[in-house]
Amino acid sequence: MLQIVERERANSSSRACSTFQGGFAIGSDRLARSETEWLNVTVLRTPNLLLRPCSSADRDDFINLERDPEVMRFLNGGPVDHGAIDTRNVKFLMPRGEEPYVWTARRGASGEFVGWFCLYPVGRRIAEIGYRLRREDWGQGFATEGANALVEWGFGFAGYSKVVASTLAVNHGSRRVMEKIGMRHVRTSPADLDFIPGAEHGEVWYAIDRSNWVAVRS
Ligand SMILES: CC(C)(COP(=O)(O)OP(=O)(O)OC[C@H]1O[C@@H](n2cnc3c(N)ncnc32)[C@H](O)[C@@H]1OP(=O)(O)O)[C@@H](O)C(=O)NCCC(=O)NCCS
Repeated sequence: MLQIVERERANSSSRACSTFQGGFAIGSDRLARSETEWLNVTVLRTPNLLLRPCSSADRDDFINLERDPEVMRFLNGGPVDHGAIDTRNVKFLMPRGEEPYVWTARRGASGEFVGWFCLYPVGRRIAEIGYRLRREDWGQGFATEGANALVEWGFGFAGYSKVVASTLAVNHGSRRVMEKIGMRHVRTSPADLDFIPGAEHGEVWYAIDRSNWVAVRS
C-alpha cells in the first residue's frame, strides 16, 4: 500500500532542468511552477522502498549506475564514458540530483541506494515514467513497486490524466514493468539508435489513462 509521507510546498525556487534530454524534453505546457514545487517534495513509501526527490547527495550513486554496462545496455549500448560523452546529444536522462521529477529509491529498511524513478510532465496533464535500478537489485519486484507508486500518486494526487513510457522493443524487462503496472502498448516507432544491438526493432510506446487505472483498481 502506498504511503505518502510528505506533501507540502517547497520554500525554495523551482530548480533548473538542464540535463533532461530527448524524450524528456521540457514541453511548453509543462506543469506550472507552483505545482512543480510541491511535486518536488513528495516522498513515497512502499513496502520495500522509500522514494524521495533526488538531491545532490545522490550524485555519485547516479553516476555509478551509468558505469554499469548492463544497466546502460538499452540506453547507451554499454557504460557511459563520462570523459567523452556529449550530454547535449544523449537521448536518455542523466540525473545528477538537481532535477525536478526524479525520485531516488532506497531500501526502506536500510536506506541503501536502489536506483531512481522519474515521472516527468511532457504535456498537459501527461507524464512520462522512467526508471533505472542497480543491477544487484533487479528481479525483486522493485521497479514494479516503485513505478506503481508513482503512477498511483500521479493519478491519485498530482492530477495527471495519462502516463506514458517508452523503451527499445528489445528491452523486455522494462516492457514487462510497464505491462505489470497496467500500461498498454500503443505504438512502435523507429529508434534511430543504430549503435545499440536490437535497436533496429524500434522503440515501443506504452500508455495508461487515469480512467483505465481507476477501472483496473476498482
Ligand atoms: C528494467 C528494470 C527497471 C527492471 O527492474 P526490476 O526491478 O528487475 O523489475 P521487476 O523485478 O519489477 O520485474 C518486473 C517484471 O519484468 C520481468 N523482467 C525483469 N527483467 C527482465 C528481463 N531482462 N527480461 C525479461 N523479463 C524481465 C520480471 O520477471 C517481472 O515479470 P514477472 O513478474 O512476470 O516475472 C531493470 O532491469 C533496470 O533498471 N534496467 C536498466 C535500466 C533500464 O533499462 N531502464 C528502462 C529504460 S526505458
